[in-house]
Amino acid sequence: MRSDQELLEKQYFRWMKLGPWYAMFPMQFALETIETHTKRGQAVLDPFMGRGTTLAAATMLGRNSAGVEINPIAWIYAKTKMNMASKQDVLARLHEVGKKATRTQIPELPEFFEWCFCPSVLKFLITAQKVLDWENNAVDRTLMAIILVDLHGKESTSLSNQMRQTKAMSPTYSINWWRKNDMPVKHKDPIALLSAKIEWRYAYEHPTHKTSSLAIFGDSTIDIVQTQPLAPYHLLLTSPPYYKVINYNYDQWIRRWMLGGPNHPVFSGGKHQSVFGNQGEYQKLLEDTFLGSVPLLHDRAKLVIRTDARAFTLETTIDTLEKVFPNKSISRIDRPVLGKTQTELFNNQVDTPGEIDILLKPRQRRTPRVG
Ligand SMILES: C[S@@+](CC[C@H](N)C(=O)[O-])C[C@H]1O[C@@H](n2cnc3c(N)ncnc32)[C@H](O)[C@@H]1O
Repeated sequence: MRSDQELLEKQYFRWMKLGPWYAMFPMQFALETIETHTKRGQAVLDPFMGRGTTLAAATMLGRNSAGVEINPIAWIYAKTKMNMASKQDVLARLHEVGKKATRTQIPELPEFFEWCFCPSVLKFLITAQKVLDWENNAVDRTLMAIILVDLHGKESTSLSNQMRQTKAMSPTYSINWWRKNDMPVKHKDPIALLSAKIEWRYAYEHPTHKTSSLAIFGDSTIDIVQTQPLAPYHLLLTSPPYYKVINYNYDQWIRRWMLGGPNHPVFSGGKHQSVFGNQGEYQKLLEDTFLGSVPLLHDRAKLVIRTDARAFTLETTIDTLEKVFPNKSISRIDRPVLGKTQTELFNNQVDTPGEIDILLKPRQRRTPRVG
């Protein structure tokens, strides 16, 4: 019995933390919150799901779960956690793409790419970019998730020249840095490197989920309705993007390129895919998303919202919640910052005053007086 439990924990550890992402929940926080506010078999909703920590924690605790994510990188991580393909299929696909890559011509690309990836890696990446149907096919998506995690990072362990894993630096900054430190790109075998990553990820096989989940690729202001099949939700646990803190597009430009985006950093990747710097739009994002969640929630549902302690984000979030959920009581859970905040977990240099958790509970029902 104990060894079954240990095996499960090892499997989950390898899969459930998949994907470097911004401002992600510490897993322990998601586990504790879900355990405190829901029972086994109930369902949890996360409209800003990121890399899917809420869904992963809910699944580990035997709860159903659903989430929405607009950024394709984070969605691939989340969806892969909930529906990973078998090791044999992923390895077979890797070799298939590797074979095709030997016949691929490298197109004209900015100088950055010659410094960042050796020719065999670049051929492999360009081929994978063309052939992997990550949106519709679980094998292709699992392989893409594994490629994205180590697309850039330490020179010795990733597909790239030396770079931060969590944030893609700008081309000019990177080239200057590699030049100054005399670091031309070294030869790497992408198939050997990725095979080792796959072996590590599947070292304890992969967990077989016994609960239901829906990881929706879309815009929560519109697509939250797609989580209807698992409603009613007893807990909404989420962390909306913070106003003016992170650009989920610019800082991830190499991974966005890998998924078919431009071959240089761009400030905006479309609606809700920039720095959330417009107050009116930010307010509307929260309002539309929370309003959309109302019909999906159980009437006794609780909500836990983790957000930035800075004034505009915090005040807008509380005002919106008060307006949308007039029948719930609102309290703040001020936590002493134990260890790193979730923005620091991402290695963000921004000076942050920390995070605040907001708890919404149904108001006590009045018991009618007798006599
Ligand atoms: C603070 S992060 C959430 C991180 C998440 N708690 C985790 O553990 O990974 C906020 C997320 O909201 C996503 N987002 C922003 N606008 C969105 C929208 N309109 N619909 C869905 N997701 C959105 C961002 O792409 C980002 O991944």
